[in-house]
Amino acid sequence: MLEVRDLSFRYDAQPAIVDVSLAVQQGEFVALLGSNGAGKTTLLRIISGLLRPASGTIAFDGQRLDSLQPHRICDLGLVHVPEGRQLFPSMTVRENLELGAYLPAARRHLAASLEYVIHLFPKLGARLGQLVGTLSGGEQQMVAIGRGLMAGPRLLMLDEPTLGLSPALATEILHTVRQLNKERSLGVLLVSQDVVQALQLAHSAYVLQNGRMVRHGTAEEFLGDESLRQAYLGI
Ligand SMILES: Nc1ncnc2c1ncn2[C@@H]1O[C@H](COP(=O)(O)OP(=O)(O)O)[C@@H](O)[C@H]1O
Ligand SMILES: [Mg+2]
Repeated sequence: MLEVRDLSFRYDAQPAIVDVSLAVQQGEFVALLGSNGAGKTTLLRIISGLLRPASGTIAFDGQRLDSLQPHRICDLGLVHVPEGRQLFPSMTVRENLELGAYLPAARRHLAASLEYVIHLFPKLGARLGQLVGTLSGGEQQMVAIGRGLMAGPRLLMLDEPTLGLSPALATEILHTVRQLNKERSLGVLLVSQDVVQALQLAHSAYVLQNGRMVRHGTAEEFLGDESLRQAYLGI
């Protein structure tokens, strides 16, 4: 459903993404791995229209995205939960969630979407009136994912949703992502430093290194081959 071909991008003179190709199928859970500075966030920002590629193409269900505005891309069902959450701390949980549904298609399903987010994250249900700035890091991450779900995604891109969380909370968040991938047949493109856990949940994985896609394989291939893990993931 997502097809990225030969994408390149540079920050001023500095190449950040070089000839990158990647695909996510309907209902597939894909892990995007790579060390700090590899270009993972840049790649997600290009796909969601926040940065313009110098060359290459991006298609979603056959429709070209690479010249669309970010809100159009979101409205098509390709939704980005950004690194660092980017929530509004002085607004309530409910207000932050509802912001995810501001586009017309999503707004029509606001009540049902909110119900689903609360089903997924019961902790948020009891805190709808609480200011987001007063939530724990884990709860804030739930709001960030919840806001993404409010937009009615068919493909959800998550950038380091477990950064800074305790191992237990990180596990909870990643398993919830897997749950909604299954329950809703939602496509997932996950960037995570929890490499082993991400591979245990994902169907397939890509590895970015210095802006280049150096490896693609099934999650089993990575988990089952120590030399592959050592060479590309350092684990
Ligand atoms: N706004 C920016 N301006 C210039 N260089 C940037 C900017 N954002 C990221 N970079 C550089 O691009 C490279 C990839 O960064 P990034 O996509 O954030 O990597 P990752 O998410 O994999 O850690 C890094 O070398 C980083 O320093
Ligand atoms: Mg990043």
